[in-house]
Amino acid sequence: MSTAKKEYKRVTVKSLVDMKKTGEKISMLTSYDYSMAKIVDGANVDAILVGDSASNVMAGHETTLPITLDQMIYHASSVVRAAKRALVVVDIPFGSYQGDSKEALRSAIRIMKESGAHAVKVEGGEEIKISISRILEAGIPVMGHLGLTPQSIYKFGTYTVRAKEEEEAEKLKSDAKLLEELGCFAIVLEKIPAKLAKDVAESVSIPIIGIGAGNHVDGQVLVVHDMLGMTHEFHPRFLRRYLNLYDEMSEAVSQYVNDVKSQDFPNDDESY
Ligand code: KIV
Repeated sequence: MSTAKKEYKRVTVKSLVDMKKTGEKISMLTSYDYSMAKIVDGANVDAILVGDSASNVMAGHETTLPITLDQMIYHASSVVRAAKRALVVVDIPFGSYQGDSKEALRSAIRIMKESGAHAVKVEGGEEIKISISRILEAGIPVMGHLGLTPQSIYKFGTYTVRAKEEEEAEKLKSDAKLLEELGCFAIVLEKIPAKLAKDVAESVSIPIIGIGAGNHVDGQVLVVHDMLGMTHEFHPRFLRRYLNLYDEMSEAVSQYVNDVKSQDFPNDDESY
């Protein structure tokens, strides 16, 4: 049974802001290809994030840093072709917006023009405010991302919970306010204490979408491969696995190998 309060034929950035106003929680999942996005969109997920986590789950890199703008555009255009209802948000990858605001705008425009996506996401606050403003001035909706920001992993040195100390928590709160003032339509808060996430969600009018940020925010996002159990070496506390696809898929593939070896497959019905 759906607990949606209102039918949205097409979810827009405005719909997400309306959902916060009416108290309807926002569901967001990642997707990087057409087939997965078709399932995710068909199940009425409100927003699909073409995350740079594609660098990890699709390409097998240790971090999100290596993925390129061209690769993100390829993933995004595949997702856009499948998404009939969901808002499609695309990460601008590392190295494509931090240099200067002109480069940031060029990258955002390429994503919008070449993939047909609806919005972009960037990691950081004060440090990248000029880039964010420039993208927004071009009429491109921007989602912020604060807390654990994986593109800065070598600065943090670890994937542990962020903003547990007062100073970092204060900076996060003021960055969230700044992103709202600049005109971002939503913010992802990753891996921070639930109480801090709640305070931030209550202090801004734009939706706060959490991953490892507790239940008192305006929505949740997970990496789809993680929640379906296709990845199996990653089990942070915040992750709820709805399936164990790694084992199920491995069993199916082993069965196929056995069937080919034993000449059980194909049988007469599966032949012409
Ligand atoms: O790249 C990604 O998948 C993300 C989510 C973890 C929020 O940024």
